[in-house]
This record gives sequence, C-alpha cells and structure tokens, in this order.
Amino acid sequence: APQELRYEGQTVVVTGAGGGLGREYAVFFGSRGANVVVNDLGGSFKGEGKGSQAADAVVNEIRSAGGKAVANYDSVENGASIIKTAIDNFGRIDILINNAGILRDVSFKNMKQQDWDLIYKVHIYGAWSCTRAAWPYFRKQKYGRVINTASAAGLFGSFGQTNYSAAKLALVGFTETLAKEGFKYNIFANIIAPIAASRMTETVMPPDVLENLKPKWIVPLVAVLTHKSNTETGSIYEVGGGHIAKIRWERAKGAFLKPDDSLTPGALAAKWKDVVNFAEAEHPQGPANALEILETAQKLPPSPPAENPDFKGKVVLI
Ligand code: NAI
Repeated sequence: APQELRYEGQTVVVTGAGGGLGREYAVFFGSRGANVVVNDLGGSFKGEGKGSQAADAVVNEIRSAGGKAVANYDSVENGASIIKTAIDNFGRIDILINNAGILRDVSFKNMKQQDWDLIYKVHIYGAWSCTRAAWPYFRKQKYGRVINTASAAGLFGSFGQTNYSAAKLALVGFTETLAKEGFKYNIFANIIAPIAASRMTETVMPPDVLENLKPKWIVPLVAVLTHKSNTETGSIYEVGGGHIAKIRWERAKGAFLKPDDSLTPGALAAKWKDVVNFAEAEHPQGPANALEILETAQKLPPSPPAENPDFKGKVVLI
C-alpha cells in the first residue's frame, strides 16, 4: 500500500507562513503529523506594517483540520524568539524553513539605501538569525533540516532586483557552508529557487501564467528534502509549475598558461577561446585544485607574445 511521508513527533518552523508558499508548507506539515510554528510578521509584500491576522488564520486552518500549530508574529530578524516559540510549545525543533520574504524592486540607479537594507535584513539577516537560534538544538540532537529560499533572480540576475538578487545568492553560499558544517551532525541544508503564484508575483505575471504556477506544487520538493529519508544536502533546486530540477556549477576546462613573465594579458587574450569553451567542462564540487594546476602549468612552454585573433595581423598584445 502507498505510504505518506510523515513527520510525527517533529517540530517544523516555517517563517513567513501567513500566506503564499509558507502557508502551503505549514498546512502540509500540519496534515502530516508535525507540530508547526506558523511565523508571520503580517506586513505588506514591501515589508511595511505588521499584524497577527495572517499567522492566526493559518494556525486556525491547521487546527481545524486536526493538526497542531502555534503562531509567532515576530520578524525573522528576531530568530531567537521564533525558535523559542517552538521550544516553549513543543519542546523541540527539527525542521526550519526560511521562507519569509519581501520585495523592494527598483532600478539600481534609483535604489535607496533603505531598499537595500530592508531586503538584506529580511532575507539574509533573517535566515541567519533563525538558523543561528535553531543550530544548537540541531547539533545537540544530531538532527536538523534547513530549507533556504533563493530565487532565479539570485541565480541569474533580474532587472530591478539588485538588492533581492544579491540577498538570494547570498543564501546559496550560506546554505552550502551550513551543509558542510552540519553534515557530521546529520544537519542537512538545501536551497530552493521557487516560482509560484503569490501576492509577490501577481503584480508581475499575467493571470493565465499564474494559474499554472500553483504554490502547492512547490510543497513536494520541500517535503522530500526535509524528510528524515533525504540524503541530499548543500544542493540548489529550481522548482515551479510541476518542474523540479537540481542546478549545479559548470567549469570550463580553461586556458593554461605558464606561470612566469610570459603570462601577459596578450597571452591570455590569445587563449580566450579556451577560457570560455565548455566542450570539456566539469561539474565542480569545490574550487579548482591549485596544486594540480600549478603542476600542469609549470610544464608548459612560455606563452609567446601573442596576436589577438580579433586583431590578427594588426596588433600584437602583451
Ligand atoms: P508572500 O509575500 O506571499 O509570502 C511571504 C510571507 O513572508 C508573507 O506572509 C509576509 O508577511 C512574510 N514576511 C515578510 N517579511 C517578514 C518578516 N520580516 N518576518 C516574518 N515574516 C515576514 O511571498 P511568496 O511568493 O510566498 O514568497 C515566499 C518566499 O519565496 C520568499 O522568500 C520569496 O522571496 C521566495 N520566492 C518566491 C517566488 C515566487 O515565484 N513566488 C520566486 C522566487 C523566490
């Protein structure tokens, strides 16, 4: 018989769970046996105002379906008090979903410092603050699952979102390092870059597109990654509209130049094709091996002062 993924006895904190994706996660975990802390500041999508209504509505929804949930109305900047809500009510914390988010879209030229600072505070400082408060519990019990929420805007850039893109990619580095430090304590951390209909996206996408981007279709990925059976950590996933795919880095084979005085800008310009050629690419798990590179490069002959192919016959660059 088919079996559900269940989370009995576990406590899940979902930040920004008063609406959008966070609400979907919270309702799901509540229906699968977990204790849920529904955190939401209850402000606007630009990060203005606050209120208890958003979180309360989701708590009521979970409870009336027979689940266990409590509300927390703090900003994610106050992670200690959010995790305290989990400990005070349920005695533990097992899964942390850093989901709360806002937008302050404006061209880089017109961006005010407040637009930059607010995005930083909610996305990066907030995820740090909540994770920091949960971490000692995770380590002590040798179990923890963290989901951090990035965005295609962070992975690829996006017009009008320098603040948001920077914050979202920062969360990738944050999570990759958490995965390394947490591994021996059975703390797994992964990154999702979702795309889904919410109050955040309804201002920028047409209704027929949004219809095909239901937020509940993000839930299964988060469910699998946070389940005790998961073995993935430190990975990035793009998810939306029924498509779920892991993303990884790619490194070109690259140019090799003898590391001596012949390593000039002109010598590099002549080998530029190799720098950007992905024909013999690899998918690195870490930085390039500096010792190996040095060994290979030292055996090379000095690079000739080269003609740049774009200026062939006219200019020799050094
Ligand atoms: P949403 O606006 O519907 O939900 C975000 C929730 O976070 C709101 O309920 C809001 O009150 C809460 N929140 C905001 N600031 C908070 C704070 N300081 N403390 C506690 N709660 C706070 O947006 P959506 O679409 O559900 O976004 C969820 C996450 O997914 C965000 O991190 C967002 O950046 C990310 N994301 C969403 C995409 C999408 O297509 N919907 C695309 C890429 C990323």
